[in-house]
Amino acid sequence: MPGSPSSCCLPALLLAVMVHLSSQTQYLSSSEDICRFFANGTKLRKPGGCNEWIVCRNSVSIHGGVCGVETPYFNLKSGACSKTLDSTYCNPPCSSSTQGYVGDTLNCSNWYYCEREKVRTSGRCDGGLSFDQTQQKCLANTTCGARFEMCDVVPTGVPFRDEKNCNKFFTCKNYKLVSNTCEPGKYYDTASGQCLALKHVACEHHPVPENVCGTPEVPLRNKLVADGATCRGYYYCHDVGSVGPDPRPTRQFCGADYFFSQEHQECVPRESQKCPWDRCDGRTEGYEIAEVEGCHNYYRCLDNKESELLSCGEGYFDAVTQNCTSIRTAYRACINKVQ
Ligand SMILES: *[C@@H]1O[C@H](CO)[C@@H](O)[C@H](O)[C@H]1NC(C)=O
Ligand SMILES: *[C@@H]1O[C@H](CO)[C@@H](O)[C@H](O)[C@H]1NC(C)=O
Ligand SMILES: *[C@@H]1O[C@H](CO)[C@@H](O)[C@H](O)[C@H]1NC(C)=O
Ligand SMILES: *[C@@H]1O[C@H](CO)[C@@H](O)[C@H](O)[C@H]1NC(C)=O
Repeated sequence: MPGSPSSCCLPALLLAVMVHLSSQTQYLSSSEDICRFFANGTKLRKPGGCNEWIVCRNSVSIHGGVCGVETPYFNLKSGACSKTLDSTYCNPPCSSSTQGYVGDTLNCSNWYYCEREKVRTSGRCDGGLSFDQTQQKCLANTTCGARFEMCDVVPTGVPFRDEKNCNKFFTCKNYKLVSNTCEPGKYYDTASGQCLALKHVACEHHPVPENVCGTPEVPLRNKLVADGATCRGYYYCHDVGSVGPDPRPTRQFCGADYFFSQEHQECVPRESQKCPWDRCDGRTEGYEIAEVEGCHNYYRCLDNKESELLSCGEGYFDAVTQNCTSIRTAYRACINKVQ
């Protein structure tokens, strides 16, 4: 099953850091589906309870099932129904620190009156109203207090997308959020639940590479640095004097007919530059020379992405006409040794 711990991207895991739980608070009343973060087929505890699960199907949550009498709780360590309840998510509403009305963390309309651990009375807001913790009453226009952390519902080891970083993904371990980083040159792909080569993953905001402007010992000043993600993008590292490396380099792009050359510190014609990323960057359609020795091959470009790899057979690709010709031009992109 995609997304299960066994098929998870652990080999791609370089660095794992514990991050603060509250950064992942989700509200039960949110209209956004939690399954947008998960691979197809992922099973999750259903938010708002502990005895049901949901399944993510094409980024939408669908009913999974209800645990039976023998094994009433959906357990996060096993990702299945179990005799015992793990995590504190479904703990009773009243605790040693509660006094007065307390909204149910599992249900927007329920409230309890707590005297420390004791539930004195409980009730529910009628007519679709939600309990407001601050005003201690049922209101129509209030942020429902029923909320959960991702690790209250995500089984151990199941990967999910980090919306802010294409090259990272989260997992839960002991009900705590863990941030994982894909190995260099890879981004996390939600659909497959794996880290894949950059060109296979859509990313709106490429992460700034680590130490892009050098280190405090060797800062890069007034230098252009490849962005480590695209053929046309680069960073301008300003000279910020004794502060060290520029903490806020400017991201820039070469025009559509050019690729960035770090060696030359400028934009150069596409065919004269090798680039490990998607060569169709900047081309919504048309053709682009492929980095295959001999200059016989080229890509069809679709939507800034390399589509099929084509061949001129005995002929050669001509970058100017974007077509095959019998005359060979030794572009640097398709020649390994330049005499
Ligand atoms: C997701 O899974 C369902 C059921 O297994 C399948 O029909 C569907 O094609 C899958 N979607 C993708 C995008 O793979
Ligand atoms: C909240 O609890 C009430 C009972 O007090 C129940 O009728 C309702 O279905 C619950 N809502 C959800 C979303 O589980
Ligand atoms: C709730 O808020 C909406 C929009 O802010 C407003 O139109 C509506 O009248 C409010 N309802 C109540 C009962 O205050
Ligand atoms: C490439 O050349 C062939 C044969 O000369 C021609 O039929 C075709 O239209 C050309 N394609 C482009 C994109 O110019």
